[in-house]
Amino acid sequence: MSDKPVLFVTRKLPDAVEARIQRDFDAILNPDDRLYGPEDLIDMSAKADAIMPCHSEHFTADVIRRLDGRVKVIANFSVGYDHVDVAAAKEKGIVVTNTPDVLSDATAEIAMLCMLGAARRATEGVGLVREAGWKDWSPAFMVGRQVTAKRFGVIGMGRVGQVTAKRARGFDMAVHYTKRSRLDSEVEHALGATYHETIEDLLPHCDVLSLHCPATPDTKGLLNAERIALLPEGAIVVNTARGAIIDDAALIAALKSGHVGAAGLDVYNGEPRDIAEEYRRLPNVFGLPHIGSATEETRIAMGNRALDNLDAFFRGEAPGDRVA
Ligand code: DGY
Repeated sequence: MSDKPVLFVTRKLPDAVEARIQRDFDAILNPDDRLYGPEDLIDMSAKADAIMPCHSEHFTADVIRRLDGRVKVIANFSVGYDHVDVAAAKEKGIVVTNTPDVLSDATAEIAMLCMLGAARRATEGVGLVREAGWKDWSPAFMVGRQVTAKRFGVIGMGRVGQVTAKRARGFDMAVHYTKRSRLDSEVEHALGATYHETIEDLLPHCDVLSLHCPATPDTKGLLNAERIALLPEGAIVVNTARGAIIDDAALIAALKSGHVGAAGLDVYNGEPRDIAEEYRRLPNVFGLPHIGSATEETRIAMGNRALDNLDAFFRGEAPGDRVA
């Protein structure tokens, strides 16, 4: 029997990452990329010292409590870790890590795509071309919103928020932001960013509002009807963070009334199957299926970052990205 730790990997990962896993661990891989439910996770835990899950697996407090005592570490293949009940993990003495930094560029790209797709009516435009419904052209046809030199607001100016703000500067947008702790003045200056102490102070300055805060009990439904009312008429809302940050009923009402002109969404409450039906139907919603970090480079970097955390853990050191 090998003396390598057993690592249970819940989803199919890039070949390069799986090769490193097979070199360094006794690996339980998932070549068919089957989606495991809670009972599968609990059953498999009896064979594993470590688990590398994605946000598609839900480690609720109940699941964590029922995991086999053999599991010592959950090394997420994701920066977001709202799918893991960290309090329950702490209580059980399970270390939890995530993969920050490495997906900031890819996610910022998707935030720009969401912004432009929403602003320039990409859902309607793509539909016209693909369904052969495009009959005419006139100056009044498919007129959208220009984002160049407008105001780009960020809630949650962490790693992804900062890279996204830099990309928005490429469109000469004026960056406004709020964050629990204000950025250092040098960073703020480099981003040309204007700080607002509260979300309520920020919102009236957002022609585009881009959400980048993690999903926590504090941020659940953060963008609600009262706050949406503070946005300028016709503002664009972009969400590449987590669906839970948005109160769907409030956003949908604002998209219907036109108070929010358009939304570019990559993440949803109830994704993938149970997202609000209106997001599929409203012409002013440009929607993508949670692909913020879905590039080859980023997937490999996420795998390596998760493995670096595991290596540190099994060397008896503190993993760099420990969150619990
Ligand atoms: C992340 O890393 O959090 C992405 O949303 C993919 O899970």
